[in-house]
Amino acid sequence: MIEGINLSKTYGNRNVLRDISLMIPKGEFTAVLGPNGAGKSTLLKILALISKPDSGEVKIGKQSFVNLKGELKRKIGILSHSSFLYPELTAYENLRFYGRLYDVRHLEEQIISVIKKVGLLLALNEPVYTFSRGMLQRLSIARALIHSPEVIFLDEPFTGLDQQGISLLQDVLKDLKSSQKTILMVTHSFEQGMEDIDRILIINKGQIAADFPTENLQSGDLKRIYFEKVAS
Ligand SMILES: Nc1ncnc2c1ncn2[C@@H]1O[C@H](COP(=O)(O)OP(=O)(O)O)[C@@H](O)[C@H]1O
Ligand SMILES: [Mg+2]
Repeated sequence: MIEGINLSKTYGNRNVLRDISLMIPKGEFTAVLGPNGAGKSTLLKILALISKPDSGEVKIGKQSFVNLKGELKRKIGILSHSSFLYPELTAYENLRFYGRLYDVRHLEEQIISVIKKVGLLLALNEPVYTFSRGMLQRLSIARALIHSPEVIFLDEPFTGLDQQGISLLQDVLKDLKSSQKTILMVTHSFEQGMEDIDRILIINKGQIAADFPTENLQSGDLKRIYFEKVAS
């Protein structure tokens, strides 16, 4: 379970998050939608404990952010706009670095398993500075999953992926969902990866504009609700 309680964040005199509270139960897959600049990435980074709110609190499981321990970080995987990859290292070396950081057991097997999932096996020993945008995105996905986190934050994960990459990511999401992982994914798509999503959260101007389950949602409903909520 992830809980954000009264989260606020300002940059200069901009209120980027305005008193947001939300609760995401274990095993739920939530999609976060909202216009550019709405505060989605800021919210994700705060919930993933890589950025601090000005006020408010994050709880993952029963632990509060203020009691953050290494053990808790190991439960979290994040794919954000920064890749957190080292360009001079190969794909393999990057994954080994993060795997060791998280004390991943059977690391060799795990590296091969995640690299296959993202379709990068042939580039395993290539330095990352030679990678295309889409390859970097694939490796970033592998990096976020190397330690089999319980809670996964994905910020626009489809960005830069080709058709095969999109389809691989959809399979990865399906796997994560069926193994009861808790997922929060920022996306701009009303279609990609939507079939596994349990809940939609619309963020607009630093606040939650809508929060609803996807069951019983008819085709076309989402687009209509979205534009109703963000138009104001
Ligand atoms: N590090 C930062 N410094 C200053 N302003 C920032 C920073 N990060 C985000 N912002 C501002 O906060 C607002 C929300 O950004 P962000 O959370 O990235 O939006 P979204 O992901 O919804 O597009 C934007 O106006 C952005 O310019
Ligand atoms: Mg963003």
